[in-house]
Formats: sequence, structure tokens, C-alpha cells
Amino acid sequence: MENSKDKKKSLFIKSYGCQMNEYDSERMLEILEPFNYSSVAGPEDADLIILNTCHIREKAAEKIYSELGRIKKIYRTKKRDTKIAVAGCVGQAEGQEIINRSPIVDLVFGPLTYHQLPEMLENINTEKGLPNKKLVNIDVPDVDKFNEMKGSRKSLRSISSLLSIQEGCDKFCSFCVVPYTRGVEISRPANQIMKEASELIEAGAKELILLGQNVNAWNGRVSGNKNWSFPNLIRELSKLDIARIRYITSHPRDMTDELMRSHQDVEKLQPYLHLPIQSGSNKVLKEMNRGYTFGEYMRIIDKTRVYRPDIAISGDFIVGFPGETDKDFNDTLKIVKEVKYAHAYSFKYSSRPGTPASLMENHIEENVKSERLKILQDLIKEQTRDFNKSFVGKEIDVLIDKPGKGENRMSGRSAYLQSVHMDGGASMIGKILKVKVTKSRDNSLEGIAS
Ligand code: SAH
Ligand code: SF4
Ligand code: F3S
Repeated sequence: MENSKDKKKSLFIKSYGCQMNEYDSERMLEILEPFNYSSVAGPEDADLIILNTCHIREKAAEKIYSELGRIKKIYRTKKRDTKIAVAGCVGQAEGQEIINRSPIVDLVFGPLTYHQLPEMLENINTEKGLPNKKLVNIDVPDVDKFNEMKGSRKSLRSISSLLSIQEGCDKFCSFCVVPYTRGVEISRPANQIMKEASELIEAGAKELILLGQNVNAWNGRVSGNKNWSFPNLIRELSKLDIARIRYITSHPRDMTDELMRSHQDVEKLQPYLHLPIQSGSNKVLKEMNRGYTFGEYMRIIDKTRVYRPDIAISGDFIVGFPGETDKDFNDTLKIVKEVKYAHAYSFKYSSRPGTPASLMENHIEENVKSERLKILQDLIKEQTRDFNKSFVGKEIDVLIDKPGKGENRMSGRSAYLQSVHMDGGASMIGKILKVKVTKSRDNSLEGIAS
């Protein structure tokens, strides 16, 4: 890459959407570090700006164009050598269209090609006085991008380190863009994951968060014809010098008995399960092409709770899917009451181009969606509040991961993924401490570390 070894360059990278994008952003930074790039906190003085985007809902995708509008204002008096790239799922889905709508963009690529970043940067030109050369790279390569990826995992990004183990999705839920933006489902080979985990641990990670669009569908080659199941992988990782292991997001169809039992057998595996159901109505689940019924989902929850009674359950919901009636929506409320979630995300259905649901009839009016969302969110909020309240007076283990807001304040996570705040100092970071919970809030706990 031009001037690779002599000139220092600054990179502003902003991540939207899910943790897989966060992981990809970390890797992009690592790929560019050997080329003298280091990250800066804002776009103002950056030599390279990367927006790592999300296409999951219309609002998420539109955010990118407002951000590009803001960036354009900064660069009106252009220090025009700044390269502007749109990466991630909007990049993959919209390609050239992004440059047509926002000509300040020089480079567009998706989640499947970012390992080629150094070459791509060489192939664009933003120098004043010369003809601009832009590039759109959204091909689906037939190589394992993780094998091709340069850069080291050896600087610690976070005490709780993200590790992507599975990518893409073949499930084709009728509302969802992921199979089109992230490609077919692939599992990274076990030895690659074990090596990356060791590097992260060497860098200081105390917790591994295994990531995948359907993380529990992971099924990896070890050597020759031998395959590990996902619980196998968890068990092998738990033999490393790591305190905690988590995984996110799981699909009900891939929830095996062996995985449920791992929550009892593997001590390092945290008592937290993010298992989206999306809707409590069997009719809607069928139209969504989710591949399970509400009864099957409940059986998984009940069984997992037999193995690990204190497990915190979390989920995702969509309200206002085409054709959703009041009765369907009430079925969703019913399942929320039955499961008692520790935490959950809920969204208004957003029609996405190219998905089968976008072509369905009986789209629900925006105001009905908003009303339903409010009712559901109030119920979930009440459950989270009750869950948090039940910890007051108890002593819990907290992994301290960063300074809190304000002087001498620290913050960490309980085993159940609650944020826990307390007084303390930087020497606590990376330790698991006993914390006496003194107060609960809607979304966090307050405590005293001993
Ligand atoms: N693979 C995971 C979810 C990945 S997408 C699973 O199947 O559970 C994250 C969440 O975004 C989904 O669980 C869903 O609740 C939400 N989502 C996806 N597409 C959406 C759409 N078109 N409108 C609204 N919410 C959507
Ligand atoms: Fe999207 Fe469904 Fe795949 Fe989840 S399982 S990523 S919701 S298509
Ligand atoms: Fe968004 Fe792509 Fe993740 S669409 S949710 S960033 S997989």
C-alpha cells in the first residue's frame, strides 16, 4: 500500500448493528495497523473513514445516509485525500447504489471481502487534481476469509473478547436480510477458533463471547473427517485459561439437549441464554418460516431450566408482522409472561427489499405496530426490573471490565449479563470480584465490591 511504512495515518471506524459487525471492525483495524493506521475517535481528522453498516431494519440502513450527510459537511472544505468507505451489510445489499446516492463514498464492500482491505485501498484514488477512482467489491469469494486475514489478535480490545465462530445463515426467515448480506452459513474450523482464542487470552481476555448469526448451528471440522459439535467446542475452550464463556445468538431449531446440558456441566459457561422466539403465535411463526412452534420453544426453555434453574433467558420479538392480529399479538404477550425474560429486545416489523415477507398482503399500520410495541416493551421492562430486584441483598460474582461513569467508579457484568456499577479503581479491571448488591435499577445493579 502507498507509503505503507513511513506515513502515519488515522482511521475512524464506526460500527452499527450486531456484535458480528463489532468483531469485523476490530479485525479491520488489525488488518490496517501494519500499514501504519491507528484509530481515532472522530471523523474530523481521519485519513480513512469506514462505516461498518447494518441492513436489518429500514431505520438502521437509513442511518448511514444521515451519517454520510454529516461527514459530507465536515469535508465540504475537503482535506480531500480522506478515503470514505461503506462496509458491512448495507454495503453488501446496496453496492454501487450507495455511491450513486452519496458520491463522497470512494469504496463499498461487504462482510465477506474485508480481508482484502489493503488491496482495495490501493485501487482507489482520492488525490486532488487526479481523476477519482472508486471501487465496489461485493463479490462472494470462494476462499476462507479468516485464513486470508492478516493482522494480529494480540492487542486487547476488551476484557470480554468477541470471537466469531460461525457466519451467514441458510434459514431464510421470511422477514430477514441476513442470508442475503452475510451469505451461506459457514462454521470456522475448530483449530482456527482454538488458536484465535489462545491469542485473545494471551492478550488478556477473561471472557470469550462466541458469535454467530446462529451460533449454536456451529459444526466444525477438527482434522480429517472428524467433527466437533458446538458443546464439544465449548468444552475444549473451557480447558483454556479463561474465566467465562458465552455464546450469542442461538436459534431454537439448533438447540440440542447436549447444549442445554452444557449449562450444568461446564462451569465456565455462563447462565445466560439468548434465544429469540420472535412471536408467540404459531400462525405467525409459520409465516415467518421460523421452523418451530411455540410449544417446541417452551420445551427448550423448560428443559434448559431443569439443567440450570437460575439461567437468565433473553430473546428478540417482532411485532406487526404482516397479517398479525390482536389475537396473535396476545399470544406473544402470553409467552413473555410464561417465560419471564431477564431481558429482551423487541422491534416493529420493518419491510426489507427482496424478502418474501415484503411481498405479503395485510401489512400492519404503523400506529398499530407502535401501540403493540409499547405494550410489549412495558411488559418486558417490568420483567427485567423484577429480575434485577431479586438480586438486592445478594452477593454475586462480577467480572469488572471497564471504568464506570464518574470518578472512582467501576463497572462490570454479572454472570447473568447485568451491568453492575460500584466504587473502585482501575486495578480491579479483569478480576472477578464478589459484589454485594445494594440497589437495582431498570437496566443495572449497584453494589459494593469486597
Ligand atoms: N439469527 C437470529 C437473529 C438475527 S437478526 C435469530 O434468528 O434469532 C436480530 C434480530 O433482528 C432478530 O432476532 C429480529 O428480532 C430482528 N429483525 C430481523 N429482521 C427484522 C425485520 N425485518 N424487522 C424487524 N426486526 C427484524
Ligand atoms: Fe435472519 Fe432467520 Fe437467519 Fe436469524 S435465522 S439470521 S432471523 S434468516
Ligand atoms: Fe445488521 Fe448485518 Fe448484523 S444486517 S444485525 S450487521 S448481520
